[in-house]
Amino acid sequence: MEKVIFDTDPGIDDAMAILFAEACSDIDLIGITTVFGNATLNTATRNALYLKGRFNLAADVAKGAEKPLVIPVDEPADFVHGVNGLGNIHIDESNLPSPVSLTAHDYIIEKVKAHPNAITLVAVGRMTNLALALRKCPEITHLVKQVVIMGGAFGYQGKTGNMTPFAEANIIGDPHAADEVLSADWPVTVVGLDVTMKTIMSNAYLSSLINASPKYGQFIYDITRFYADFHQQTDKVDGIYVHDSSAIMYVIAPHLFETVAGPIRVVTEGPAIGLTLQKTANKRFPIDDWADFPAQKVCCNVDEEAYLQLYREQLS
Ligand code: BDR
Ligand code: CA
Repeated sequence: MEKVIFDTDPGIDDAMAILFAEACSDIDLIGITTVFGNATLNTATRNALYLKGRFNLAADVAKGAEKPLVIPVDEPADFVHGVNGLGNIHIDESNLPSPVSLTAHDYIIEKVKAHPNAITLVAVGRMTNLALALRKCPEITHLVKQVVIMGGAFGYQGKTGNMTPFAEANIIGDPHAADEVLSADWPVTVVGLDVTMKTIMSNAYLSSLINASPKYGQFIYDITRFYADFHQQTDKVDGIYVHDSSAIMYVIAPHLFETVAGPIRVVTEGPAIGLTLQKTANKRFPIDDWADFPAQKVCCNVDEEAYLQLYREQLS
């Protein structure tokens, strides 16, 4: 069983990924750490606690950062995720469980130290909590099993951004944190728009989950109605791109993804702020200070058919 701490800003696709992780037979979801992003920190944390209570999750919930390291905090993406972050479904706030007393980055440090080389950190929001953990306790780089990130876009499938032509939301929301996390000396795999926009759950597929997964299917269908409308209006897509669940899918089925290795940097200012770049053997960049950065893996392709089949199987 892979011990996973899931760093997240729920968020519709975040909520789907939390339930997917919980359903996966190979994953032991020990903690959910929250961060601002799709919703404010308070709303994102409330949503994580709601999922914990409603689906009886054993995972701790630890509240994290409310703003980026350097740049000002952006408005929540309520046009994508709804004002309540969960597609505006009714949320019963009575009897919500409580978060742990540790803040997210301290929770990460404590758990990683307690389980050396056994924890996979999966981050699907702004990377602020991970960067704060790295700043406070740099030695965790040698104690984490692996880091899997949903964020960025490297152009391997022609996609380079979803917030600007050159930036993905989780990166542009805190580019300084992203640059620190992606260039740190720990084993990172990035699951970015290159593969997540290639993986589409149609409305028919989402509706098929209702019968396939008596526990989670109806909830996933309900929260994705608002999200699917957004995809239809912006990209004429029938259904939804599968962003955050793809990071969990990589943990359980890395063989479904092709990867490219090379150091990664993030543009932290100027008109291309949020751009993610990977230096690979066959690419040249006018950047001369890459030599000391570790090679990280970026997913450049995915077997989306096998992915969708496995997702439904695991959820059943
Ligand atoms: C990412 O941004 C958020 O809207 C999603 O939850 C996902 O983590 C996709 O760019
Ligand atoms: Ca997210």
